Amino acid sequence: MTLDLDMSTDGVLTADTHLIQSFADLNALKQNDARTVIVGAEGSVVRDSEGNELIDGIGGLWCVNAGHRRKEIIEAIHNQLNELDFYSTFYNFTHPAAAALADKVASLAPGHLNKVYFANSGSVANDTAVRMLHHYNNRLGRPNKKKILSRVGAYHGSTHLSIAMTTPAYSDGWDSASDLVHHLKSPHYWREGDGMSEAEFLDALVEDLRLTIEQMGAENIAAFIAEPIMGAGGVIVAPQGYHKRMAEVCAANDIKYISDEVVTAFGRLGHFFASKDVFGVTPDIITTAKGLTSGYQPMSATIISDEIHDVISGPGGMFLHGMTYSGHPAAAAAGLANIALMERDKLPEQVRTTGKLFENTLRGLSDLEIVGEVRGSHFMMGIEFVKDKTTKASFTPEDNIGLKIARAAQARGLIARPLGNILILSPTLILTEAQIGQVGDILRETITEVASTI
Ligand SMILES: Cc1ncc(COP(=O)(O)O)c(C=O)c1O
Repeated sequence: MTLDLDMSTDGVLTADTHLIQSFADLNALKQNDARTVIVGAEGSVVRDSEGNELIDGIGGLWCVNAGHRRKEIIEAIHNQLNELDFYSTFYNFTHPAAAALADKVASLAPGHLNKVYFANSGSVANDTAVRMLHHYNNRLGRPNKKKILSRVGAYHGSTHLSIAMTTPAYSDGWDSASDLVHHLKSPHYWREGDGMSEAEFLDALVEDLRLTIEQMGAENIAAFIAEPIMGAGGVIVAPQGYHKRMAEVCAANDIKYISDEVVTAFGRLGHFFASKDVFGVTPDIITTAKGLTSGYQPMSATIISDEIHDVISGPGGMFLHGMTYSGHPAAAAAGLANIALMERDKLPEQVRTTGKLFENTLRGLSDLEIVGEVRGSHFMMGIEFVKDKTTKASFTPEDNIGLKIARAAQARGLIARPLGNILILSPTLILTEAQIGQVGDILRETITEVASTI
């Protein structure tokens, strides 16, 4: 098949096309800004339209956890489509793949999280969690208990509701369901904790939650939503013990805890789910997507507690929520094959070694002149660049530091994701030790080179 695209010599698409890109400067793209056209992939490497091989340092979009082109997953999708291409999970219809995947996910999720609702994106998984909790509170005769507490720096998706829960910077110039949401302080100690010890900073964060509940009234707040490690807000790791302390305050005020594990689940931090196994919290709801199918099919899950399910499934009500493709057979088959592969190869366990090596390799870049903070855990890492290490003075948006470094890394064979002054790395979980070394070398050379030009 040939694509009618206008390629430049370095593997980029320069023509205006009919496709609207996501989270992009559409005007810059109209002015023929470069596009990279990825045409093939294998393992941890992708190939662009010019034949360049690039280490996929962002795992597609933190999602290709099992690696590219795994035949077990592809065959499972193929076989499923041959058997049953589509049936919905509306009314009393169901099909074996969706039911089996729900069973499997419930068995992997911690504690009382036993009921699973599928959708097609992390954004909708989070919308679903909020809609379910609103209905839950209506059924309990608490129609005012609807507000959501989120955090500055969070990313929860880009539907009207999930972008409202996302950090305000992401809706600049765009509307959202902002009346529903209050943003608590960012838990980023390195940037926000000036003058405080980490323990004092943690106390201040918990106090912010307590005061907010006092001001807004627990009777008006349905839930607190938090990523175990913030992702697209800049890979921010909260102080040790933060999630447990926040969960305790929520529980004491009858506020549900939603853990957004769209990125952190399915092995990225060395466990199928991070909430309990890494952070010691059993939430009331876990939302997940991405690694659930390793990106082979669009699928998300909202996993709720027995208690929430008991209320919303009681007599005299209807579950008025549904997406045609919820639990799509091909997506469910992808999820089942992906999890089977992860269990067979002990991928989460492997990440505890290789992911730690990856983390330490990136932490080793801290000595570089413009590297302010290297943060994250295992295969979920961010590097923040600063103009001045001692004052932590930021580069200006015009410096385009993240983009410059990402482009220079790509020229050396590594895809990394720029986010302002931050570079995000979230590779496949099958990255080898040799590839980890390569990533470290490319980043060191690239950062040093770009630093010398500014
Ligand atoms: C933590 C988190 N939640 C939700 C989402 C939204 O998921 P999706 O893009 O599938 O809608 C993302 C996407 O990156 C995410 O990182």
